[in-house]
Amino acid sequence: MKRPSAQISAVGRSVPARVMTNYDFAAIGIETTHEWIMERTGISERHIAGPGETTCSLGADAARIAMKRAGVQPGELDVIILSTASPDRLLPATAVDIQAVLGATRASAFDISAACCGFIYGLTIAEGMINSGAAETVLLVSSEKMSAICDWTDRATCVLFGDGAGAAVIRRSQKGRGILSTFMRSDGTLADLLYRPAGGATTPMSPAVLEARTHLVHMAGREVFKHAVRSMAESAGRALDLARLNVGDIDLLIPHQANLRIIEATAKHTGIPMDKVYVNVERYGNTSSASIPIALDEAMQRGLVGEGSIVLMVAFGAGFTWASSVVRL
Ligand code: COA
Repeated sequence: MKRPSAQISAVGRSVPARVMTNYDFAAIGIETTHEWIMERTGISERHIAGPGETTCSLGADAARIAMKRAGVQPGELDVIILSTASPDRLLPATAVDIQAVLGATRASAFDISAACCGFIYGLTIAEGMINSGAAETVLLVSSEKMSAICDWTDRATCVLFGDGAGAAVIRRSQKGRGILSTFMRSDGTLADLLYRPAGGATTPMSPAVLEARTHLVHMAGREVFKHAVRSMAESAGRALDLARLNVGDIDLLIPHQANLRIIEATAKHTGIPMDKVYVNVERYGNTSSASIPIALDEAMQRGLVGEGSIVLMVAFGAGFTWASSVVRL
């Protein structure tokens, strides 16, 4: 097994108080049923931000919990990395808003855009910065207000997503704890299968864009499903190989929580029984990059894993991007 250089010292999570169930879609004019959504996705409800809840506020709340558990003060943070597909503003990075709210005066702060793989991409960057000596203490936040960027008139997408945030404090490895492997890939030739077509620099916001709703998330669901299953299974194997571990060494698989059928297919292809797979998609929907740290935090709080446990995390998302990591907690 590889000697780790950086470890996840502590994690935290924060989700909006407001819960929207599958039955609540009727009230906003969406023609769907609880049965349809459950059968295709395994999602029963999701948290949706209320007034004043933002990508920054959710991320900062999760960060405070992680920092308290790690015993880290805001002034000790060297770097704040925020992964998000739903930044509060396009400029500047939402990470600097989190920095300001936390009072992390010494830190540099920046966003990364890797969709649902953001937490694992961020983990890889944090590990690299600690390894190179560029940072000692990194705050990695994955925060999403997906409700702000999904099309609430499109029943094929709006039922899938939810809001929430997870955060991790990453420091130099101690006692053999830490990141044993990370694996990242992307394929930009598939970008148009899951994207926001307009509203960026190529086609800036305009009345026509608003009218066509092309500034919101568009997705070719079936294609995404197919690629997700294939890429998640490949990713899981690669992270295990890089960590020089076998499936039997894994205490818990935490897959990106997009869809129960994708999770089950990933577990099956990887050879990990479902009782070693963490699933909470039924309560949160797809919270993009926040899904893995929210699940990790829940699994730790429930005592399913703790110090010394070996966890495999696997993600897939827009880009397409796919990624995986094995950590010893
Ligand atoms: N309720 C009821 N019917 C719905 C619906 C909803 N919420 N959304 C779509 N439908 C209808 C469609 O209009 C279509 O009707 P039609 O046959 O009359 O045209 C029918 O259901 C089948 O649509 P289709 O898109 O082919 O369904 P599907 O079996 O592929 O399931 C997804 C759709 C989105 C659930 C599925 O493709 C999926 O989970 N994809 C992966 C999405 C994902 O996880 N993305 C994020 C990755 S990070």
